[in-house]
This record gives sequence, structure tokens and C-alpha cells, in this order.
Amino acid sequence: GPSGPKICCLGAGYVGGPTCAVIAFKCPDVQVTIVDLNADRIAAWNSDSLPIFEPGLDEIVKARRGKNLFFSADVDKGILEADLIFVSVNTPTKKTGVGAGFAADLAYVEAATRRIARVATSSKIVIEKSTVPCRTAESMRAILEANSSGDIRFDILSNPEFLAEGTAISDLMHPDRVLIGSLQTAEGRKAQLALADVYAGWVPREKIITMGLWSSELSKLAANALLAQRISSVNALSAICEATGADVDEVAYACGLDSRIGPKFLKASVGFGGSCFQKDILNLVYLSESLHLPEVAEYWRQVVSLNEYQKLRFSELVIRRLFNTITHKHIAVFGFAFKKNTGDTRESPAITLVKHFIQEQAFVHIYDPKVEQSQIEADLTHPDVGTLHQYKNYVTIHTCPYDASKAVDAIVVMTEWDEFQQLDYQRVYKNMNKPAFIFDGRLILDAKKLRGIGFQVEVIGRQA
Ligand code: NAI
Repeated sequence: GPSGPKICCLGAGYVGGPTCAVIAFKCPDVQVTIVDLNADRIAAWNSDSLPIFEPGLDEIVKARRGKNLFFSADVDKGILEADLIFVSVNTPTKKTGVGAGFAADLAYVEAATRRIARVATSSKIVIEKSTVPCRTAESMRAILEANSSGDIRFDILSNPEFLAEGTAISDLMHPDRVLIGSLQTAEGRKAQLALADVYAGWVPREKIITMGLWSSELSKLAANALLAQRISSVNALSAICEATGADVDEVAYACGLDSRIGPKFLKASVGFGGSCFQKDILNLVYLSESLHLPEVAEYWRQVVSLNEYQKLRFSELVIRRLFNTITHKHIAVFGFAFKKNTGDTRESPAITLVKHFIQEQAFVHIYDPKVEQSQIEADLTHPDVGTLHQYKNYVTIHTCPYDASKAVDAIVVMTEWDEFQQLDYQRVYKNMNKPAFIFDGRLILDAKKLRGIGFQVEVIGRQA
């Protein structure tokens, strides 16, 4: 069997799964066991159809599963056997109580920490992988220390994950950096080195950076806030472009050539989604308010407000162009995932748009190459979105973009899937109601070509 350290990961989600699969793939002498309370999710990881879609994930799981990569619902056994334990559980925004709507719900992190404390019979390095508010490691340490006895010691590390869904495997294989935070004590540095040695199996040492726990925790929130802030900034500019005749793609290109700005993450769109950006910024807002820094809180809050504004603006554009009413009109929605190359729909702008369309009593025809029908139904019947009755009346899920766009008045592109650029738009046009509208919420289509076919094309950040 493998001779290196044994790793256990609590939480077999979008982060725990791919991260540990890559560790197992790159470090054949490390034994990696991923455990989860959700036995269905574990069963899916052990099956031929993995619970999450990521390009390249299937291959590496198949290569290592049963060798040095294991998925199990036996959480306690995983904890008992491990030297290093990743805590990669969910940290959603709190729904009720103090900080509701802003603060992170740390109940899962705490439950996982208490379980480690209760079950462990030997010393462990506990690694905070979930994104958490500053000083969570401190709380975890308090729980672990209060429960350690005699010759068992727990060391705590912060090792935030910077992978992006849709490119998780290549991000993990070639990270810009790996960040490890620890207490600045001899034991803390020793634990830091033990984890650094695992990553050094494939990551150049100079990309493995170490710092204190709090800096490490805050760096993750800060990185997501800065990334989302770029999107909201370019989206704010897109509104100016639409009003003036400037073209947001041209403006972003011109700005991105400045080496201080750089070209990445400057694409205007209907708005950002995903489970992290909004949650982590709201976390930062909450943190700022707790620290009595209201101006700072307000600054970051605006990044989220602008994103809401951008989604609303796009819904309103659709209604306005369709002669100020979409009631009982048919609208095809191309893409439901929050970005391409993932099946994840958490905080997807498509949910908000479809909600608006249903409230206007439009019939919505949804096509996404990777999102399951059951997921779309769950998202659209969430209490904040709509009822089952509305869903049944107004929503149809399609498995083919040509069927989805048959006899509709408009197509709304919500996700930047590559296949939407390659469709036969002559054929799409022929089967649509006229005038045939297409709203490109991701700026991926060739508007000129579509106009040549006969479409009325509407693009974010550019006048018609
Ligand atoms: P997820 O919801 O996909 O997975 C979390 C899993 O943890 C669930 O399957 C849940 O059943 C399990 N779980 C909860 N409590 C547990 C316990 N006590 N023991 C064992 N398993 C338990 O969440 P995801 O997306 O993987 O995110 C995890 C963390 O990573 C979050 O804090 C998130 O902010 C952070 N993160 C997420 C990224 C992403 O792209 N999704 C990127 C970077 C960080």
C-alpha cells in the first residue's frame, strides 16, 4: 500500500472531490479517503456517473479510485486513519439569526470539527479548506484543544482553495499559488511543512506560500471580492456603453492591454453567479460591519448590488424589446449553469431571469447541455423563486437547442457554452416566431452574422 501520509477529506463536494482526486493522482504514495454525511453523493462518486461534472475529472477518478483514492460514508473511520484531515464542507450564507443574509453559516464546519475532536485517537493536522470568515481557525482550534487529551495534539492550518468550477482540474494541476496559513509557532510551522510536502508532489515550491492563519483566511475572501469587483466594474461600464454607443468589448480590450490591469476577467455579461462570489463578499461586508467599518462594508456591498442591477436590466431589456410585454410569449433560455463547463446552478443568473419571465407569465423553454432537469426544477420551485404550479404551467425543459427554440419569440443566451456559437442559426431562425429576437447575455455570438440571417440581436454593452 501507499507509504506516504494518509489524508481524509470531510465533504465530497465541488471542492473536496476534485482537490483530493488530484492529490491522489499526483501523489501515488498518499492514500486519500473522501467522506461525506450524504451517502447518495458517496455512492455517486463510486459509480460511473460522478455527482459533479468537471472536464478531466472522470479520467483521474477512474485512474486512482480503489488504488489510493477512496470514497466512503464512514466518516469516523476516515478520521481515525488519517494524518491530515481536510475540512471541505459547505459554508452557506446564514438564513436566520444574527447576520442572516450576510454571515457564513459555520454550523457544518463546527460539527465537522467536533466530530474530529470526538473520534480521533491520535494526533491530527486539521486543514480548513472551506472558505470561512477570518478567525474561524481560531474557533476550530479552541474546540480541538478543549477536546485533546494527553498525547493527542491537533494542529490547525488554513489552506483555502482557489480552483474555479469549469476549470477545476487544470487549476488544481497548475495552480497560480497554493496558500497555507498556520500559527507562527514551531508546531504550526511543522504542520505547514507537512502539508507543503504533499503539494510539492506536483507544485513548484516557490508557488507554495505560507503565512499566518488570519492572513490566509482573509486572502481567500479578498481574492473573490477582487475578482467579482472586476466583473461588476465592467458591467457598470456596459450600462454606459449601451447609453452612449461605445462597445464594452472594445473598452475592455483597450483597458486590458494596460499591464497594470490585464485582460482577464473583464468580460461584460448578464452578471456573475456561482456559490462563492456573492456569499464571500457578503461575508466580507459582515466582517467589515462587525469591525465597525461601515464605509468599507458599503464599498463591497455595492459589488453585489451592481450584479443584481445587471440581471434586472437584462430582464427589462428583453421585455422592452418584445414590445413591452412577454405575457404568454415563448422564450428559449440557452444555458442554465452559472458558467460553461459545469453543471452547477448555484446563484446562476438564469434562475433570476427565468423567475422574472415566469412572473410576467411568459412560457420558458430551457436547454442546458449539463444541468439535470431535477436540478432546474429544484431551483425554480425554491420558495424565493416560484411555485410548483408556476413551474408546471410555464416551464419546459428541452434536451436539444433546436427543440427549445421552436416557435419561440426570443432566445436568451444565459451561459457561454461553446456549442451555442456553433448552432445552425439559419435553422433556428426558420422555426422561430417573427420578428425573431436573440439576446446575448454573454457576448459570445456573431451579432453581424445573426442580423444577416434576419434576427433582431440585442447585446449587453452595445447599442442595437
Ligand atoms: P458542496 O456543498 O458541494 O460540498 C460540501 C459537502 O460537505 C456536502 O456534500 C455535504 O454533505 C458535506 N458535509 C457537510 N457537513 C459534513 C460533515 N460534518 N462531515 C462530512 N461531510 C459533510 O460545497 P463546495 O462547493 O464543495 O464548497 C465547500 C467549501 O469550499 C465552501 O466553504 C466553499 O465556499 C469553498 N469553495 C468552493 C469553491 C467552488 O468553486 N465551489 C471554490 C473554492 C472554495
